[in-house]
Amino acid sequence: MVIDIHNHFFPATWPDLAERYGTPNWPWIKHTEPGKADIMVGERFFRHIDSACWDPEVRLQEMDRDGVEMQVISATPVLFAYDRPVEHALDCARLFNDAALELCRRGKGRLRSLCQVPLQDIDAACAELSRCKKAGHLGVQIGNHVGDKNLDDAGIVTFLHHCADESAAVLVHPWDMMSQARMPKYMMPWTVGMPAETQLAMVALVLSGAFDRLPANLQICFAHGGGSFAFLLGRLENAWHRHPVAQGTCQFPPSHYLNRFFVDSAVFDQHALQFLVATMGADQVMLGSDYPFPLGEERVGDLIRGSLLSQQAKTKLLGGNALRFLGLGEKSPGEKEAGVATASGELAHPSSEQLTYSSYLKIPQLLELQQPQSSPQHHDELLFIVVHQTYELWFKELLHDLDAVVANLQAAGAHPASRDEVYEAARLLRRCTEITRVLVEQFTILETMLPTHFLAFRDKLEPASGFQSEQFRELEFLCGLKDEKMLRYHKPTPEAHAQLERRLREPSLHSVFFEALRGLGKLGVFPEGATERERFDARARAVQSLYQDDRHHRDWIDVCERLTEFDELVVSWRLRHIQLVERTIGVNMGTGGSAGASYLKLTLEKKFFPELWEARTLLMK
Ligand code: HEM
Repeated sequence: MVIDIHNHFFPATWPDLAERYGTPNWPWIKHTEPGKADIMVGERFFRHIDSACWDPEVRLQEMDRDGVEMQVISATPVLFAYDRPVEHALDCARLFNDAALELCRRGKGRLRSLCQVPLQDIDAACAELSRCKKAGHLGVQIGNHVGDKNLDDAGIVTFLHHCADESAAVLVHPWDMMSQARMPKYMMPWTVGMPAETQLAMVALVLSGAFDRLPANLQICFAHGGGSFAFLLGRLENAWHRHPVAQGTCQFPPSHYLNRFFVDSAVFDQHALQFLVATMGADQVMLGSDYPFPLGEERVGDLIRGSLLSQQAKTKLLGGNALRFLGLGEKSPGEKEAGVATASGELAHPSSEQLTYSSYLKIPQLLELQQPQSSPQHHDELLFIVVHQTYELWFKELLHDLDAVVANLQAAGAHPASRDEVYEAARLLRRCTEITRVLVEQFTILETMLPTHFLAFRDKLEPASGFQSEQFRELEFLCGLKDEKMLRYHKPTPEAHAQLERRLREPSLHSVFFEALRGLGKLGVFPEGATERERFDARARAVQSLYQDDRHHRDWIDVCERLTEFDELVVSWRLRHIQLVERTIGVNMGTGGSAGASYLKLTLEKKFFPELWEARTLLMK
């Protein structure tokens, strides 16, 4: 299923808006020759367009040529009219929203649409969105700002809330570019202004903490690859961690929110796409072409298809993610056709999109994910897959919770007087220890598999190995055990490699914890030239001093105890894994090429927080 979520249309004709509203400089269409037209704004030339904009036959032919099954069309920002009186902007929105539905009606179920709304008036915008959603639009395209208001404006956030309530997808499109006086030439508003505008919108929304308040079901996408956002995320993150003013009012560092929004793929360069996917994750990028405008992708989808991304990632980018964004589930365009609206604004055959247990939890997709390699299938291979997948799901949850612990400890370090974040960190750490306890226990299930049963399908697994568990390594890096050498096992999967590189660069739980103790006044600044041993001793003494003053530091001691328990449980995990390995393959080599159990025994020495253990020794002195 290939879905293009960012492309535009213009109707072949529309009423003379200047005459209709009695004000000048409205967009109008000047047909220049058969199949060609110019969009004018008052007397000013705006853009050459062709019949692909208004003729569904032409669109469908070009979609067939490019292998695109569905387009989600939207009008063009030049029609937003956010700076006009609301009644004119609303009337204009209605004209083009109904025209979009008419185009979709003739699109054989392969064209769907996003509406536009008069965003300068939130009540009118919400009402028009609701009308359009009922009439068959899948969501709304909005500009990235309304005059001086960015997306963090309280009214606009209310509108986004309404979109979530209406299950309406939101495409944010840059428009009305900043500093146009300094960009009169070279199409700079497009090449420079648009990326900056988009980044500005995203940064405003993230740092304002809007994502902490907006419902998680809000589906929002930023066009043009999210502009400069992904490339400059490191800069934003650095500022967030190091300067209170740059933190805004969001609870977590900016990178925490990456799974809350999508970006499209309109970046026109393989390296840029690869980087975008590595930064945002393959679940958050969708095919967007800017078709059929002159700067759009010439053969829609070629950038993704020709990339080095895995087949699985390509499938997501080309359409899988769009189904999620648009709330279309896994339904085919044929099925959706039944729900396409008529121009009069009524659904021909309303389709039920109510959430069910199965659709919410993606049960059909989940149950598709166990693909044994043995043929004929060995009975125990399913167990082997299910156990590993369960581990990976819990690793995902651990990463999610530990990231939140890091953010809480960072906040606690920055505001030592406030206790809330310390309690919250301890609470989440308790969850992590409980999960890890389950992970230790879970090996027993796999031990019901006889060694001979494993050997029956083991040769099908090579060279896949636990060494390649990206999330396990992420957990180690996040907690502070950063061993760059382990990256070599992730060369075959560039996304995993990039993600681990990012984890290497990010502050670890270990470093954030001790920074927080520094904020608390328990750990001084290390003298220049201090050896690693001296730093280690100072950190252990900082912990020791917490324990010695338990009347004042119960909350921090609780955090220390949880971290110690977590450390302990991870060692138990390593030990139980080794026992499983010995029980199953004896002292033979692993599929990843290591010496097997004897290699793994070396890892038993690894601790995330050795200072917490050293403090115990110090307390007895
Ligand atoms: C029959 C069951 C299993 C056997 C025989 C086995 C064997 C091994 C071996 C020999 C290694 C060392 C690397 C290599 O040479 O491949 C390894 C590493 C690893 N395995 Fe397993 N394993 C089993 C089950 C599991 C399960 C259920 C998990 C759960 C996620 C798991 C996760 C890992 C991880 C994360 C590593 C890397 C450890 C590190 O680098 O410290 N393994 N495994």
